[in-house]
Amino acid sequence: SKGEWATFMDKEIHEQPRAVAETLRERTDASGLLVLDELRIPAHVLREVDKIIVIACGTSAYAGQVARYAIEHWCRIPCEVELASEFRYRDPIVSQKTLIVAISQSGETMDTIQAIRHAREQGAKVLAIVNTPGSTIAREADAVLVTHAGREIAVASTKAFTAQVTACYILGLYLAQVRGNKYGDEIADYLAKLSEVPAKMERLLGQLDPVVEVAHELAHSASSFIFIGRHVGFPVALEGALKLKEIAYVHAEGFAAGELKHGPIALVESGVPVVVIVPTPRRPELHRKVVSTIQEVRARGARTIVIAEEGDASVEAWADTLVRVPQTPTLYMPLLTVIPLQVLAAQVATDLGYDVDQPRNLAKSVTVE
Ligand code: F6R
Repeated sequence: SKGEWATFMDKEIHEQPRAVAETLRERTDASGLLVLDELRIPAHVLREVDKIIVIACGTSAYAGQVARYAIEHWCRIPCEVELASEFRYRDPIVSQKTLIVAISQSGETMDTIQAIRHAREQGAKVLAIVNTPGSTIAREADAVLVTHAGREIAVASTKAFTAQVTACYILGLYLAQVRGNKYGDEIADYLAKLSEVPAKMERLLGQLDPVVEVAHELAHSASSFIFIGRHVGFPVALEGALKLKEIAYVHAEGFAAGELKHGPIALVESGVPVVVIVPTPRRPELHRKVVSTIQEVRARGARTIVIAEEGDASVEAWADTLVRVPQTPTLYMPLLTVIPLQVLAAQVATDLGYDVDQPRNLAKSVTVE
């Protein structure tokens, strides 16, 4: 039941600290190393992997895009992310050394099922990250990493996304451990920082009034939103735009911050809301560029909504709305920065009087191709 919440989506947004904590639980031994007995693919097979292809649809594919940054950085294995509905049709190069990572909340998405079958026919091993253990994808995969988000009822995915991203970090760190890319104490340190995220999510959920206010302000006036991000902020921007489209029926597009000048900046005119996900100032090479993008859109009259780390003073002058997120390592930032975007979409949809949990034309699991 929804309990105290107006919608399942609201409830599920607030269940994210728990979804992440549950997904992390009981996956380490006393020394802080990962133990994934459930994985069922032997370590020697994982050591041989020379390419990873993540296959998924929609929000789950955006979780995969976040995963790519972590997996390539930690494990030095080339990692591609492909929409399941496109995968088969490009004659993908798949071998016995390819690890397919299929990500699906429902485990019943037909596009993803068909892509898995195609990859397995060519000898690839398939590891499924699913929220539904008995599902078709879980049964057909060689190995399963279960996300413990609990049942997700709202059509728009929220807690399943953050649980998927968490599972991807676990997978990335496990591969780094098994393949010897990282020492045990480094793995333990990465995991310790990850386990601090649920408390940070909890705190963040308590400081989102600016998001609610800007949603009230723009719900009836803005006809289009732009979301921009760089590095792991880029898939978060895509996810923010998808949420707004699917539940509030407002046109929205996500762009890589660096791509704006190659065309999309032409869309920015007076009053257009631009949501910017700002990297930590501790990564100056990323941060500096995103701040200058905010200045550029502001100079063209954009209504800026800036998601930035606590303590980052450099953005204050350029933000019409400023949303603060707790500090965390760059690769983990999507677990936090996505939350204000979920709340923005839910609040705009609510203010417009729509059924947030059951948007028109959409089903919770898409069992047709
Ligand atoms: C968006 C959303 C969809 C799903 C997509 C894949 O909020 O929920 O984009 O992410 O249909 O579904 P699963 O993860 O069940 O394969």
